[in-house]
Amino acid sequence: MLSVVPTSLTVRAPAKVNLHLGVGDLRPDGFHELVTVFQALSLHDDVTLTPSDALTVRVTGEGVRDVPTDATNLAARAVAALAERYGRDPYLQIDIAKGIPVAGGMAGGSADAAAALLGAATLWGLDVGRDELDEVAATLGSDVPFSLHGHTALGTGRGERLIPALARGEFHWTLALAREGLSTPAVYRELDRLREVGDPPRAGSPDALLAAVASGDPHRLAPLLANDLQAAALSLQPGLRRTLRAGIEAGALAGIVSGSGPTCAFLCASADDAVDVGTELAGAGVCRTVRVASGPVPGATVVP
Ligand code: C5P
Repeated sequence: MLSVVPTSLTVRAPAKVNLHLGVGDLRPDGFHELVTVFQALSLHDDVTLTPSDALTVRVTGEGVRDVPTDATNLAARAVAALAERYGRDPYLQIDIAKGIPVAGGMAGGSADAAAALLGAATLWGLDVGRDELDEVAATLGSDVPFSLHGHTALGTGRGERLIPALARGEFHWTLALAREGLSTPAVYRELDRLREVGDPPRAGSPDALLAAVASGDPHRLAPLLANDLQAAALSLQPGLRRTLRAGIEAGALAGIVSGSGPTCAFLCASADDAVDVGTELAGAGVCRTVRVASGPVPGATVVP
């Protein structure tokens, strides 16, 4: 056991894209039953925890205006939940450096929560196994367990029950970040509404997609990307159709709304192609800004 208590600790946690997002019925608890395939991408938030005399949050980076710095911040809730469970004082200063788009459908808040959980557990020297951390993670949000684990995984339940999925090689992505965010509950509500009045497409089984991910072939994966929330995100932000079209015209193999959106994720044949697609998208004026990323990458990790 290490006797020196570190003064502060930084944990890095990745963004995610849903390669497959099948949304089932609305459950009595207000969540939808999901079958989803997550992939963690090389776009990160860094969360630094420093022992303090109060639980405080500071946020830097893009989109910080929209991130709460009070007790409702998901990283603060993560620290409070862990402290409560293990009988600790939750007094940490939390510094979040955002690299993941805020309200973008890429699990930025969940990444912060996962990073805070791992960071606080490490800083406090808690004897907590991965299963216990997962349990706390699931109470914070549907995507938080995946943000801890990273890589590629099949998620069921409300997304919190994970089975690792085999992925060969590296997939290359261009991300088009939107000017305005979308609220996840609002997108799910819009899908419920669309399903009441019509029959939007359903993603079906992820089996073929999982085989494509295991093959490492982006050409095979591209036509299988599917997201039931896409129709709802497009209904709330119709301009995203233009963004999706522009990415394909720029040479992407496929484009999809990431999770509940509004970030659009474009699968590309190579890292060079991803840069080319990003350059074209930026020039076309169909998004606020672009990023390139690759996946899969690991989940929340303590930065040495
Ligand atoms: O779990 P999380 O806090 O990320 O969920 C945010 C909101 O998204 C939920 O309150 C719910 O409205 C919606 N949601 C859902 N079904 C899921 C996951 C999220 O309806 N499986």
